Amino acid sequence: MSQGFDPSLPLARARTIPNTWYTDSAVLAAERETVFARTWQVVGRSEQVKDAGAFLTADIAGEPILVVRGDDGVLRGFFNVCRHRAAPIKTEECGHATKLRCRYHGWTYDLAGRLRGTPEFDGVEEFAKDANGLVPVAVGEWGGLVWVHLTEPAQPLAAFLGPLPAWVEGRSAFAGLEWKARQSYDLACNWKVYVDNYLDGGYHVNTVHPALAGVLDYREYRTVCDGNTVLQSSPITPGDGEAGRTRTGDLAAYWWVYPNFMVNVYSGVMDTNLVLPLGPDRCRVVFDFYFAAGAAPEFVAESVRVADQVQAEDIGVCEEVQRGLNSRSYTTGRFSVKRENGGYHFHQVLGRALAGRVTA
Ligand code: FES
Ligand SMILES: [Fe+2]
Repeated sequence: MSQGFDPSLPLARARTIPNTWYTDSAVLAAERETVFARTWQVVGRSEQVKDAGAFLTADIAGEPILVVRGDDGVLRGFFNVCRHRAAPIKTEECGHATKLRCRYHGWTYDLAGRLRGTPEFDGVEEFAKDANGLVPVAVGEWGGLVWVHLTEPAQPLAAFLGPLPAWVEGRSAFAGLEWKARQSYDLACNWKVYVDNYLDGGYHVNTVHPALAGVLDYREYRTVCDGNTVLQSSPITPGDGEAGRTRTGDLAAYWWVYPNFMVNVYSGVMDTNLVLPLGPDRCRVVFDFYFAAGAAPEFVAESVRVADQVQAEDIGVCEEVQRGLNSRSYTTGRFSVKRENGGYHFHQVLGRALAGRVTA
């Protein structure tokens, strides 16, 4: 690996991770182990699992997950995999249940994941129900979001998030915001192409996003890297059109949380982006849109349209980049010292996680 990527180099001498990391299924397999199974991952919203029996399902890089609120009020996470033949326990995105019944052969688990019912299983030897509960995963809540960690977490969620919780509290950034809409996009690119594009310090804003460029003060765009996070921020300048009407206030703040989550905050408008790997050259980006309570439906629609336009522009370049990464002419690239410290920070954190696991 070291021949292709050296995370110890200063930014001015650094190179990107090699192109094969964006195209090779062996790299994605390594990322499943050392990136997605070893970070806190967003799986849904707390309001979806508020009451006893409320559940949600998710997929973390191929691992089916079930999160459910118990009768005792405790939120628990499990692999959404039946202990009998590995069928999913729940297939809906979210809902309510009094018990967890596998639809394949009808085994039932209680809301705490304990195996309770095993139809027609008498006479099976050396089988203990209490050793066949749903396999648990660590679960946490922050920012109105539910997070899961597939392996023993090295850090509690709040510590993993570094400076983000204090920033949100200091600015009351999420206060009074309500979830309004969700939009998913499937992209023909590796998940890291999307993250790289997000973390280029505004380098592509003027060239790719003309409407957005009108409301950002590009000269004052700043990128701060800290642990598992990168904060990009820019003062807002009053602009025209839909972007000008929906992107107001004093500051645009774009938070990235390693490896695949983003929170974009404007005044009274927020969206989160979750980047899900679907294959070496495919990913899905899920946008959740939040607005100040009482925001007019027309404002919500207009704001979502602005985000959708920006996303369409980003999809265009990301898919083109993926095609370029497949070219025999390209292996690695260099970073703008002025703009691209966030993108290099991502590569450093990722490169250290994958060290010794993949070759260039
Ligand atoms: S797979 Fe769940 S009961 Fe058979
Ligand atoms: Fe963009």
